[in-house]
Amino acid sequence: MLGLSGGIACYKAAELVRELIKAGATVQVAMTEAAEHFITAVTLQALSNRPVFTSQWDARDHNNMAHINLTREADAILIAPASADFIAKLLHGRADELLSLACLARPIDRCALLVAPAMNREMWAHPATQRNFAQLVADGATVLGPGNGDQACGEIGDGRMLEPHELRDELIAFFQPKLLAGKRVLVTAGPTFEPIDPVRGLTNRSSGKMGFAIARAAAEAGADVTLLAGPVALATPRHVRRVDVTTAVEMHDAALAAAPSSDVFVATAAVADWRVASVAGSKIKKAEGRVVPAFELVENPDILAAVARLPKPPFCVGFAAESENLVAHAREKLQRKQVPLIVANLGPATFGRDDNALTLVDADGERELPRAEKIVLARQLVAEIAARLSRRT
Ligand code: CTP
Repeated sequence: MLGLSGGIACYKAAELVRELIKAGATVQVAMTEAAEHFITAVTLQALSNRPVFTSQWDARDHNNMAHINLTREADAILIAPASADFIAKLLHGRADELLSLACLARPIDRCALLVAPAMNREMWAHPATQRNFAQLVADGATVLGPGNGDQACGEIGDGRMLEPHELRDELIAFFQPKLLAGKRVLVTAGPTFEPIDPVRGLTNRSSGKMGFAIARAAAEAGADVTLLAGPVALATPRHVRRVDVTTAVEMHDAALAAAPSSDVFVATAAVADWRVASVAGSKIKKAEGRVVPAFELVENPDILAAVARLPKPPFCVGFAAESENLVAHAREKLQRKQVPLIVANLGPATFGRDDNALTLVDADGERELPRAEKIVLARQLVAEIAARLSRRT
C-alpha cells in the first residue's frame, strides 16, 4: 500500500507507482486530502490500475470499512511523501482521516510501516520532527532517507524525498532476509586499467555488473559493504561504501588494507594480469619512420591469493571467468589461490549482460545456479556464503 500525504514530492509518486509495479508489486494507493492538492487520484489510479482511496467515508467497499480492508492484503505500507504533519499524527495514533486510520488499523506484526520523509530542511531539522521520527522508529517504523540536495523552496539541505528508484530499491531490500547482519563484506568489481602513457592503457571488457550486484545483495542482507571498483560507469548500490581505483596495484593495496577487518571477501574484479613496466610520461607519438613500440610487461599482484594468505583471512570467494573447461579451470584456481569457494562462469558470454549462469566449485563438488538476472544470482550466492559462514563458526 502506498500512502501519500501532502507535499510537493507527491509529483514523484507517479513514477514510484510505475517503478514498484515494474518490480512486480501490486500497489494500492491511498492519499490524504492535502496530497490531492499536488497530484490527482486519477493519475495514480491509471498508473496503479486500482481504485484510489481518499476518504474514510468512501462507501465503495462492501462493508464500508476501507480503513481496515486496505491493509489486510498489504505486505507493507509505504508513506511517500511523509509530511512533518502526517508523521506527527502517526506517532500520536491519531486517526481522523483515511490514511492515518489505515496506518493505525494495520496488522502491526505482518504489515510493516515505512516512511519516506519529504520536507523543508528547517522542518526536518526541527527538534519536534526529529523527536517524532525517533519515536516512530521506536514504535517499529522504518524511515527511508531523507535525501540531501536542492529543495523545491530553493534551499539546500536534508529533507528531500528519496528518488522513486531509490525508494523501490529500499523497499526490495527491506524484504530480503538479513543473512549477513553484523558482517563486513569486501567486494572487488570491474576491470582494472593499466596505463601505457597518459592517454592509453591495457584493460578488459568486464562491466562490473556482477560485482555491483553482489555488493547490493550483501547490503540488502544487512552487511556492512565496501566495494572496490575499477573504472566502470555503474551507480553505487544504496548503503554500499564505494572506493574507486584504477590499477591492479591500487586495488591490491586497498583490498589488503580493508581485508583484515572483513568477514567475507568476494573477488569479482577482472584484474589485469600484467602492467607495462615503465609508463611513458607523455603521449607516445606515431611519427613516420619510427618503429612500432614494444612494451615490457610485468605481472600484477594476485589480490585474491594475497588476501587468502593473510594470517586470519576473511571467507574468500573467487570468480573464474573462462572461455572453456569451466570446472577444471575453477578447480585449479581453488587450489592455486587456496580459497574455499570459486564461482565459475563463461566470461566472454556474460560481459556487460544483466544475466548470467554460475557454477559453484568447492572441495566437495559443484553446484549449478541456473541462468538468471545477476541480482538474483547475487542473492543466491549471498545465501550460500551466509550458510558457509554459519557452518564455520
Ligand atoms: N584475481 C585477483 N588478482 C589478480 C588476478 C585475479 O584477485 N591479479 C582474482 C579475480 O578477481 C578472480 C580470481 O582471482 O576472483 C580468478 O581470476 P582469473 O583472472 O580468472 O584468474 P587468473 O589467476 O588471472 O588466471 P587466468 O587469467 O590464467 O585464468
